[in-house]
Amino acid sequence: MAISIIETRWDEHETDLRALRQAVFINEQRVPEELEWDGEDDQAIHFLALDPEQQPVGCIRLLPSGQISRLCVLSEQRNNGVGSSLLVAAEEAARARGMEEIFLHAQTHATSFYEAAGFSVSGGIFMDANIPHRQMFKPLA
Ligand SMILES: CC(C)(COP(=O)(O)OP(=O)(O)OC[C@H]1O[C@@H](n2cnc3c(N)ncnc32)[C@H](O)[C@@H]1OP(=O)(O)O)[C@@H](O)C(=O)NCCC(=O)NCCS
Repeated sequence: MAISIIETRWDEHETDLRALRQAVFINEQRVPEELEWDGEDDQAIHFLALDPEQQPVGCIRLLPSGQISRLCVLSEQRNNGVGSSLLVAAEEAARARGMEEIFLHAQTHATSFYEAAGFSVSGGIFMDANIPHRQMFKPLA
């Protein structure tokens, strides 16, 4: 399936971004709403994955600090390369802005997914939104 990735801002695609994250993080993973909507979206660069009918199927964001977060793909669209494509788009945006390193807080089930994309774990497991996480980073130089 041909997926396209677009770069956008919160004020341009808030409705679509909210719907994706509501479905995956709040409804599926039971992340509390007050943690999901953390006030950082206005400052982030967002990416949306669109299916051939231009329907949103996934998203990710890049914060000014170099942190990548909120990567999600609708459950019925997983294992088709959408998540990897979103991650590449965020990484390329960080490179284009001269960032020397990107980092993220990976849910522990997803560390192998990020390792395949060149990220390394740093430090131990910590809890966030009742989900075990590990910090991971990738130098871009
Ligand atoms: C994690 C997530 C974004 C991956 O998206 P996706 O579109 O399914 O990923 P891709 O199809 O690009 O997967 C690429 C590879 O990673 C593997 N993979 C996907 N999800 C994985 C996971 N949770 N754990 C380990 N490996 C995973 C796939 O098997 C695939 O491997 P392959 O290339 O050898 O076949 C998606 O599963 C998701 O939205 N999960 C719920 C939200 C979440 O946990 N987000 C991450 C927060 S840290």
